[in-house]
Amino acid sequence: MPVTMEKLVSLCKRRGFIFPGSEPYSGLAGTYDYGPLGVELKNNIKRAWWKRVVQQRDDIVGLDAAILMNPKVWEASGHVAGFADPLVDCRKCKARHRADTLEPPGACPQCGSEDLTDARPFNMMFRTFVGPMEDTASQTYLRPETAQAIFVDFPSILATARKKLPFGVAQIGKAFRNEITPGQFLFRLREFEQMEIEYFVKPADWERVFAEWLQFMQDWMAACGIAPERYALREHADDERAFYSKRTIDIEYHFPFGQKELYGLAYRTDYDLTQHAQHSKQDFSYFDEVTKERIVPHVIEPSVGVDRMVLAVLLEAYHEIEGGRSTTTESTKEAEVVLKLPKELAPIKVAVLPLSKKEPLAAKAQEIVRELRTRWMVAYDDVASIGRRYRRQDEIGTPYCVTVDFASLEDGKVTVRDRDTMTQDRIAIPDLVGHLSDLLGC
Ligand code: GAP
Repeated sequence: MPVTMEKLVSLCKRRGFIFPGSEPYSGLAGTYDYGPLGVELKNNIKRAWWKRVVQQRDDIVGLDAAILMNPKVWEASGHVAGFADPLVDCRKCKARHRADTLEPPGACPQCGSEDLTDARPFNMMFRTFVGPMEDTASQTYLRPETAQAIFVDFPSILATARKKLPFGVAQIGKAFRNEITPGQFLFRLREFEQMEIEYFVKPADWERVFAEWLQFMQDWMAACGIAPERYALREHADDERAFYSKRTIDIEYHFPFGQKELYGLAYRTDYDLTQHAQHSKQDFSYFDEVTKERIVPHVIEPSVGVDRMVLAVLLEAYHEIEGGRSTTTESTKEAEVVLKLPKELAPIKVAVLPLSKKEPLAAKAQEIVRELRTRWMVAYDDVASIGRRYRRQDEIGTPYCVTVDFASLEDGKVTVRDRDTMTQDRIAIPDLVGHLSDLLGC
């Protein structure tokens, strides 16, 4: 049965993955907080991406730039003039909506009235002030994309990283957009994170590199446990592309609320570097040692929202088994949830479960926990029946449970139980770390 948003949101709250932001104060629209398990999942996604794009490649370097930037950056980039969504007001109920997503078209989604104002552009950048004066001279913006810092830092990176074209710069960080209608849980937020790459190429190479990144993006989807039939590639028409893009293809995931953008690939040409060169009067060119020419590199940009990725990963992993599935010790008639997360992304890699709270079993189990914790996030659970404890771990996607029983004290072995197959193997305690690292692949 396909998962509903209600079920997923409920699991996230009940098990401490994700909560509404500022909850005791009735929340703040468009913000969510990642709880103890959510932060592990999110960090694992970011780490897995960084490993693939920075650590394992020779042609990409990392960056962690300031969120606040000189406001001239946003004038040069075109965001002050052009980063706007069309806003309409309903004259009847006074609600405000994004004109291009009205459902039904031309009518207020809240009261159904067709008495709407004309659409006017609403700039989505959050404004703030730098220093104690709240005047236009000290006004700047919270960045609406991480990309601009990569462009602004291009001359410094070129001078220090000693890279030749083609090469890229990767960054993970917060972005802020004052969305007119945030919603659908983590899908449309006002504060979110992006994982972006600006990949600099010679102009003639852009089509080949664009195709290579489209393939990388699909490989990344597979690493996140998302099969090709769960998403579609969609080319943007000329009139829907962002102002900086000459070609855009989105990976659209089949969310429960419709097929929507998860991951975008844009050909930004030399637009951004040229704009910053003109506005700052600094040199943003690249000297080609072979042709002895100065060029302004062109840019291919694969960009994905971390929060949308978290949402897609959770939706994909969520499995509900009607009537439960039997364990060695007991079966239930309740529906059971198993989060079949890729092992690399699971918040907790191993749970250690002593069959009894009593000594010397508990001490033995704690000794195992201490050793495993040097390698992985480990949970310890000695409350309730072993079947119930397995189900608690299945529900949060823990790939392996290690059960310490009375026989362990005699034969020095523990039982390793697999989340997906539910198979159980007896493993000698000295071999446990090696066995689990083979299984986990890390
Ligand atoms: N630098 C290019 C850029 O920002 P974008 O398509 O506007 O392009 C890139 O955003 C990605 O950021 C999207 O594919 C989406 O995953 C994520 N994203 C954009 N707006 C978002 C929002 N309001 N809430 C959550 N994620 C968002």
